[in-house]
Amino acid sequence: MSVLRPTADPTRSEWPVGLGGADPETLAQEFGTPFYVYDLDAVRGQVEALRAVMPPSFDLAYAVKANPALAVVGYLGSLGLGADVASGGELELTERAGIEPKDVVFTGPGKRDGELTAAVRAGIRAVTVESPGELARLEAISAGLGRRTPILLRAAVGPATRLERVRLVGDDGAGKFGMDGESLVDGAVRAGRSSHLDLLGLHAFGASNVLDADALAEHIEHTVSAARSLASRVGFQLRLVDVGGGLGIPYQPHEEALDLTRLGDRLRTLHDSLAADPLTRATRVLLEPGRFLVGVAGAYVARVVDRKAVGPSTVVILDGGIHNVLRPALVGLEHRLQVLTAADGHRAERPRAVTIAGPLCSGLDVFIRDSIMVPPAVGDLVAVLDVGAYGFTEAMPFFLSHPIPAEVAVMAGRAELIRPRVEPRSWLDSQRLPNW
Ligand SMILES: Cc1ncc(COP(=O)(O)O)c(C=O)c1O
Repeated sequence: MSVLRPTADPTRSEWPVGLGGADPETLAQEFGTPFYVYDLDAVRGQVEALRAVMPPSFDLAYAVKANPALAVVGYLGSLGLGADVASGGELELTERAGIEPKDVVFTGPGKRDGELTAAVRAGIRAVTVESPGELARLEAISAGLGRRTPILLRAAVGPATRLERVRLVGDDGAGKFGMDGESLVDGAVRAGRSSHLDLLGLHAFGASNVLDADALAEHIEHTVSAARSLASRVGFQLRLVDVGGGLGIPYQPHEEALDLTRLGDRLRTLHDSLAADPLTRATRVLLEPGRFLVGVAGAYVARVVDRKAVGPSTVVILDGGIHNVLRPALVGLEHRLQVLTAADGHRAERPRAVTIAGPLCSGLDVFIRDSIMVPPAVGDLVAVLDVGAYGFTEAMPFFLSHPIPAEVAVMAGRAELIRPRVEPRSWLDSQRLPNW
């Protein structure tokens, strides 16, 4: 593994979070552009900030899908977090990252038999069951292996789910997530009768990137309330409520960060009400954030390869585009960009309308349009910020056969390569011309 000592002074305020004080030009020389860099000190800061407001009955499981880099998952595991996985591949990743199965939950639609079997064999904390069909398959697999598997039932959110008078609100993904109220009750009854399933409680994921502490708290309170209703109606001991993730980060300059103190106050009230009831005194509530823990800690750094005047605008083309950072195109919002000027320093140019785009032959491949700024010059480095979550992993790296960027982690000013750059030749080499 390649190690380097950055030359930059980490205390210099112009280095953005995400670069962790590492000198971008040194990283670019060592690992090539474009590259991803994750500031693990910033990740720890997010974990500590969240933990500081979490009441004692709450646990944290990192949603691996946000950033599945082995080093990132391993680091969060070393801080004592569990993991939320969404596939057999992610389950194997947590094993390699050193997270114990007892701290892993497995949630997501369309789990294959092989994936359920791996989860049962591993003995994870809970499998979240998404449908009556999946419940039947899991029961059969558990029985075949002579195991009793701890499960959660996933409640669909939105208008379809009404448990007693509790309505869970969120994005129901056109009905692909979880079960409606009737199926939940049937599922709980079936699980209660099974000697191969151990029903712990309920799971519900509300919405993504929520910046309103009250909206998040409301979802959590409603989920706990729905779980209590289900447990008392069907008659099982409520041991775990998984309220999903969804804690947001501000991407736009006008957005305000999530008010953690406010969230913590409401969670404390919920904790007190659980603790006051003998039936829920031992109930754990699991939060599974992804974006909040790693989003701000990542940057994507690319180099300017071309610049031209187009009417009144200056158009700047980078060697990395949205094939590696799909989010700006997916959600139609610009990310914060930071120009990291090259060794020849700041240029005395006038601010003007600048468009910064990647190298793809697609009109979608644009990071910012007509933003008033001093334009970066050919050779400069530009960082796309806040891409530690759903960045590298939620990409389309094969489009146009550019290299897949390296991933680098920085901690205490020290940078280390955690996934090497992949040249297009490597996937060209693995292809075959058919011999008709
Ligand atoms: C079941 C589940 N848990 C947790 C998460 C993490 O969400 P976020 O990154 O918004 O915290 C997701 C995201 O899709 C999810 O589907």
